[in-house]
Amino acid sequence: MLLSREEMTFDFGGARLRPERDRAFLEWAMNQFLYGEITGIQVGHWLYGAPDLEAARFLARQSVEELQHVDNFLRIMAMMGLAQRPAHGLVRFLSTGMMGGSWAEHVALEMAAGEGFVLLAFYALIDTLDHGPSVDILRRAVKQEERHVAFGETQTRKAIAGKPWLRRRLLGLSLVSMWAVTRLARFMQTRLPADHEVLRHLPAFLAHTNRCAELRLRRIGLLDRPLAELGAGARAALVVEAYGGKALEGLFRLVTLPVRVLPIWPRQRRLTDTYLADPLVTKPLPAKDDSEAEAA
Ligand SMILES: [Fe+2]
Ligand SMILES: [Fe+2]
Repeated sequence: MLLSREEMTFDFGGARLRPERDRAFLEWAMNQFLYGEITGIQVGHWLYGAPDLEAARFLARQSVEELQHVDNFLRIMAMMGLAQRPAHGLVRFLSTGMMGGSWAEHVALEMAAGEGFVLLAFYALIDTLDHGPSVDILRRAVKQEERHVAFGETQTRKAIAGKPWLRRRLLGLSLVSMWAVTRLARFMQTRLPADHEVLRHLPAFLAHTNRCAELRLRRIGLLDRPLAELGAGARAALVVEAYGGKALEGLFRLVTLPVRVLPIWPRQRRLTDTYLADPLVTKPLPAKDDSEAEAA
């Protein structure tokens, strides 16, 4: 990952979340995570459009992991006696409404940025939750989430290489998701006791979250200067350009729909078209079959 655990850790000063006392907040929070893990089904969509065999393998494994995470949260909720409830509208917007329209949007917004946000929240829970069995489950799951974020970062770098327009579009869309996270935190503040030992840190934790998101954008190469140096006008222009570009593409797809069903229209090339040139297929295999040794 481009950010270390230390860089992503927020110091809650030893404050604790206690299952009995903080039941209402924990129930709310766990239901948001549960929804997020359920959106792991979207991996199936991206597997069908995977650009190469390495990505396809990664996504196949990720889909299994995300569905295991669903079980993790159900187990955590059962252990703490928390009920299942619908997720907040902004969480739905961030994880379903902002579902990427292309591979680049998926890896940049959902994997690097989105799962990066979630990772910070998981670290915060691990560091504050006073419930050992739940923390143990989260510690195991977090290793997998770290790999998902790292994959998103690497793939985003690959996708934007030599494409300044795509870099600007992904930056514009990232600004929107950072705005949505800020709104979500504001909503949480209105619902939470301001004198709570953990929850009173929320505004500072949010600032930390956005600092990490900005650092990640810089290290990936989506942002070439501190965000503060981009004025409000420049930010607005990036957002308008990003959504304008997406809208135009949508219109183009709609207008060309009657033609695109004809067999002459070039369709998206999938792995079934490209696998023979895939680096994992063309690389020489060792003469000896070591799959048995691996399985053992
Ligand atoms: Fe997950
Ligand atoms: Fe994940």
